[in-house]
This record gives sequence, C-alpha cells and structure tokens, in this order.
Amino acid sequence: MTTDMTALITGANKGIGLATARQLGERGYTVLVGARDPQRGREAERTLRDGGADAHAVEVDVTDEESVARATKWITDRYAQLDVLVNNAGIARGDGTGRPSETTLATLRAVYETNVFGVVAVTNALLPLLRAAPAARIVNVSSEVGSIGLLSDPAHPLFPIASVPYPSSKSALNMVTAMYAKELRDGRIKVNAANPGYCATDLNNHGGFRTPEQGAEVSVHLATLGEDGPSGLLWGFVMDGGNNEYGVLPW
Ligand SMILES: NC(=O)c1ccc[n+]([C@@H]2O[C@H](COP(=O)([O-])OP(=O)(O)OC[C@H]3O[C@@H](n4cnc5c(N)ncnc54)[C@H](OP(=O)(O)O)[C@@H]3O)[C@@H](O)[C@H]2O)c1
Repeated sequence: MTTDMTALITGANKGIGLATARQLGERGYTVLVGARDPQRGREAERTLRDGGADAHAVEVDVTDEESVARATKWITDRYAQLDVLVNNAGIARGDGTGRPSETTLATLRAVYETNVFGVVAVTNALLPLLRAAPAARIVNVSSEVGSIGLLSDPAHPLFPIASVPYPSSKSALNMVTAMYAKELRDGRIKVNAANPGYCATDLNNHGGFRTPEQGAEVSVHLATLGEDGPSGLLWGFVMDGGNNEYGVLPW
C-alpha cells in the first residue's frame, strides 16, 4: 500500500519509535526516521527499507534547537506537508531510590529537556508543515505514569510509584498536549497523548510486559485518526485488573 502521506517519528531508531515507523511504513506512509545519532538513524532506515518501507533517516536531537532547525529545513526542502508528527523521543532517569527528596535538579532538567521542552521545540518548528497538510495528526508519546489521577489513587497498581523526574515530565507533556489541542481545535490538526503501556525496551532494561510493537499500535491509532476522531486526550493501554484494553486515561 502506498499513500502520499509523510510521518516524522522522533527517537525512531529503536524501541517503540522504530516499531511505530515500521507500522506507519506498512500503512503506506513515507516515514522520516528521527534519530539523534546519524549512524543509528541510517541503520534504522536500512532495517525499515529492507522491510519494504519508504524510510528516510533525519538527524534530530530534540534537545538541540539548531538540530531541530536543521531537521526542519531538511524536511521542508523535500516535502510540501507533514501529515503526522509522533513526538516519541524520551528518556527516563532518576537519582538514588528515585524519591522526590533524592531528586537532583540536574536530572530533572535533563528529563524535561527531552520529554517536555523537546516536544514543544519540534512541534513549533514543524507546525507550518503540519498546517500545510489537509488533516495532520500530532501524537505525543506520554505515559500512564504521567497521570496524576492514577498515581494518586491508592487502589491503582501504579500508586507505589513515588518518583519525580519521569512521571512529572509526562504530566507536563499531558498539559502541553491539552493546550496544543485547544489552540488547534478549530483547524484540521488533532493532538493527543499516547500511553503505550509498559513495553520491553532499553528505557526500562526490557522489564515491560508488552512489546514495542504493541506500544506502537497506540501511536499509530492516534496518528491515523479519522475526521471524527478525538483531540486532546490521553489514550492508550488501560491497566484494568486483567482486562487489558485500550481507552481514555485520566489526566
Ligand atoms: N517503554 C515503555 O514502557 C514506555 C511506557 C510509556 C511511555 N514510553 C515512552 O515511549 C517513548 C519511546 O520510549 P522507548 O520505550 O521506545 O525507549 P527507548 O527504546 O529507550 O527509545 C527512546 C528513543 O528516544 C531517543 N532519544 C532520547 N533522547 C533523544 C534526544 N535528545 N533527541 C532525539 N532522540 C532522543 C533514543 O535515541 P538513542 O538511541 O540515541 O538514545 C531512542 O531512539 C518515550 O517517550 C517513553 O517515555 C515508554
């Protein structure tokens, strides 16, 4: 299947991002494989091309505004529009036991640079190209651990989590998502946050019980929403006492 649709996925050289690029490639999208390391980007491009996707590596470090500007120019020079932006690049770090009292500002800053500021930088740089598409979709890859509602509920399995950097960065990303959805609600662009669920990747030393491919299904669903689809939601894997399914999560 081929389409004339183009998608950029940041952090697409491995994990959920690579799986998202593969699945969008299978749906006929031209996939721009965002990677901060050019060598890793080229390897991912080759893997995706071997699988039949129209894949092109794009060097982009989301924490580096010049790198974001160079990537934007590279894309703008070649494509008239961008149909999908998946802000997937993310890092997880903690200090000591990860508790708030042990958290250093250096860690907090590093995590926010990637998980929050990077999303705003990339989105704003690419908005003109997204606006040029007939119905662009922005997917911010967030997490259920960014849900203040779930992590404050003593009955929820995630309640024991008591860490600041990663969870609060995803809470901030959820708000960023809601505000972009609000600004863009009268246009044709839908903006949603994705919860892939706990997937086995380098991010968690492969401790997750879902596969990167399953996590990517969530981003792909939100990236390919129809005209009647929602905007401004945290949507994805719902941990529901054994009834594992997809749905809307509380902020
Ligand atoms: N795995 C889970 O259970 C889970 C659950 C919920 C949400 N998420 C979210 O899913 C997204 C993907 O994570 P993953 O699990 O697939 O982790 P991963 O395998 O560690 O992949 C993370 C990707 O982000 C890239 N990246 C990190 N910093 C970057 C930067 N400054 N600029 C550009 N790219 C950067 C990495 O590039 P390098 O290879 O160069 O490091 C890598 O490609 C993240 O946003 C994560 O928070 C994951």
